[in-house]
Amino acid sequence: MGETEYARQRENLMPAVVVVGAQWGDEGKGKVVDLYARHADAVVRYAGGANAGHTLVVGGEQVILHLVPSGILNEETECVVAQGTVLDPDVLLEEIATLEARGISVASRLHFSERAHVVLPHHKLIDSLRENKAGAIGTTKRGIGPCYEDKVARRGIRLGDLLQPKELRSRLARNIEAWRPVADALGGTLPAPDEVATAYAALGQRLRPFVCDTARLLSTLLSQNKNVMLEGAQGTLLDIDHGTYPFVTSSTAVAGGACSGAGIGPTDIDGVVGIAKAYATRVGHGPFPTELENALGERLRQAGSEFGATTGRPRRCGWFDAPALRLAVRVNGMTRLALTKLDVLTGIDPIQICTHYDADGQPLSEPSFDSMRSVTPVYESMPGWSQSLRDCATIDDLPEPARAYVHRLEELVGCPISLVSVGPGREHSLGEVNPFTELGQL
Ligand code: IMP
Repeated sequence: MGETEYARQRENLMPAVVVVGAQWGDEGKGKVVDLYARHADAVVRYAGGANAGHTLVVGGEQVILHLVPSGILNEETECVVAQGTVLDPDVLLEEIATLEARGISVASRLHFSERAHVVLPHHKLIDSLRENKAGAIGTTKRGIGPCYEDKVARRGIRLGDLLQPKELRSRLARNIEAWRPVADALGGTLPAPDEVATAYAALGQRLRPFVCDTARLLSTLLSQNKNVMLEGAQGTLLDIDHGTYPFVTSSTAVAGGACSGAGIGPTDIDGVVGIAKAYATRVGHGPFPTELENALGERLRQAGSEFGATTGRPRRCGWFDAPALRLAVRVNGMTRLALTKLDVLTGIDPIQICTHYDADGQPLSEPSFDSMRSVTPVYESMPGWSQSLRDCATIDDLPEPARAYVHRLEELVGCPISLVSVGPGREHSLGEVNPFTELGQL
């Protein structure tokens, strides 16, 4: 193919769009991905593991998924869990069983990367033991950190390895032995390699029909002009490089992670949608400048049902942090934002927005290295509203102060807000619901 023809073909390709958390996770990505998935041919998870969780309503019943993308509810959508993730086979099989029991067929449209690393029993053990010691991060205890540690130490077990039982035992023996000093220091007992090898080879056989080279699958889909949506896990401020280190997760949560995590090139990505709540929350330990440790924080927690989908822990709540969002817009190359849970602010008057930080008397427009630990947030007040937003069908139906709040956030963070959600249902989403079209703006 000539160079021009190749360039022309690429120009005509349907875009791949990344959906990424702009705060500390739990921004409502699952809901937005579910909305967008109606326009996607494939939905891809590219990072993290069963530390994530989204609650879906299937046939009137609540279902919490940790690994399978929420696009699975659309019968036409291919769902991919790619190699940047870490997979717990028990969780995968449980989610498959849960979905099938509710009449959702997953066969031939659910794909797990053979290169994704496997979360092993001792990963969960070490994660939990560490959390009982000083210096705990407040992890989800799902074994995520230790599994990624094995990956970069080049001794991890990949999903494809479970399908090679002969080599699996020796690989596991080497892997488990490497954890011995850590387990001894923490007072934990490691599992026997033989037992793990037998159990995980059996799990591998059950997962075999779903295991493939997902990067190739995605290339094929993109070359067929299919709409591909890449779904990040956690959020920008929990990213291993850009977050509030060391109080972060162990993977690349930002949009850039979609390339290596899913196996596509940067030139395949055409848009990055950031998801942000109309206020801020975080679970686990670590800096949170706008946190409200008072009755107002409790009110946000109750009104927004701010309890973790994975661990049930109450989430810490606070005001919208524009400096944190500016960082997220910048490092993700965000092309638009979806703002969730605006309705939770109903009845709060005035509403505060952190416009910048005060760092030892100096204004700071974005968090810098470690600064989040010590900055003082500087707030601007905006009038609230008291009427319910649930019946609004379009942005124009929002009460004037709610519209002004959304526009002020847009202005402060420097990114257009194309979607606003005002309730849990699909019908409670105002604005642009197809991320594959031209840039939408309210
Ligand atoms: P880990 O990912 O379990 O190692 O936990 C590291 C940090 O990330 C902890 O503060 C967790 O609470 C947080 N975290 C991990 N996954 C999520 C998520 O899906 N939503 C919100 N916080 C998360």
